[in-house]
Amino acid sequence: MTGRLDGRTAIVTGGGRGIGAAVARELTGRGARVTVFARTAAELEEVVRSGGAALAVAGDVAAEADVVRLRAAHERVLGPCDVLVHAAGILERGRVEALDPIAWRRVLDVNLTGAFLVARAVLPGMRSRGRGRILAIASISGHVGTPEGSAYNASKWGLIGFAKSLAEELRGSGVQVMTVSPGGVDTRMLAQTPFPPAMGVDEVARVVGWCAAEAPDAMNGSDVEVFG
Ligand SMILES: NC(=O)c1ccc[n+]([C@@H]2O[C@H](COP(=O)([O-])OP(=O)(O)OC[C@H]3O[C@@H](n4cnc5c(N)ncnc54)[C@H](OP(=O)(O)O)[C@@H]3O)[C@@H](O)[C@H]2O)c1
Repeated sequence: MTGRLDGRTAIVTGGGRGIGAAVARELTGRGARVTVFARTAAELEEVVRSGGAALAVAGDVAAEADVVRLRAAHERVLGPCDVLVHAAGILERGRVEALDPIAWRRVLDVNLTGAFLVARAVLPGMRSRGRGRILAIASISGHVGTPEGSAYNASKWGLIGFAKSLAEELRGSGVQVMTVSPGGVDTRMLAQTPFPPAMGVDEVARVVGWCAAEAPDAMNGSDVEVFG
């Protein structure tokens, strides 16, 4: 195990800024050719322009057609996907009785169903090649309850449960699934909350890079706590 990802390719959802952009830079630094995916094309193009990724694809991770287009573009330009990192996420805060059901559904769609859609898109290729890593950014909010955090926390508890179930389906296949659960990270999302940052994006990215390139297969299904 060298820690390098030379000859490998990766897709990073939410790769336009924050944790996802840092993960794209980390994986690129380890030698992978990376596609970044999010809705804001200008942010994705800046990540590519600055050398943090090889390809930008704009789209919505909650839209199945966009995810299918992402996989096709990635395979056409960079080849089969070896590493998937689902970092796309949104936060909607509010007490349960005040939270708009549309906001509740959107958080679940992006943070949880998005993970299902991207994993589903890359899994057949990973299974047939007998190797791959599927990683998702969960959260300390997937371990605790937070006032005004019901939708977000439910999405992250769900994401960890989804990953653990998928890990069981993939046992013995050569494809490994893990989640990484950061505490407060200094990003635009955290600025929407009253919580202070406990760490910067590069610290989280280093953990994700290790999970992608170095974590033993025996960690399949594990959630890695990076609470700070
Ligand atoms: N910051 C923290 O303290 C913290 C702690 C634990 C876990 N996390 C998790 O870490 C991940 C990254 O968060 P961050 O703090 O880096 O937030 P951020 O700076 O707001 O970045 C979120 C990224 O997700 C993308 N995204 C949002 N909705 C999307 C959609 N529908 N389709 C595709 N991409 C979408 C955003 O781009 P567009 O808006 O352009 O689509 C952006 O690139 C999230 O899953 C978050 O829940 C964050």
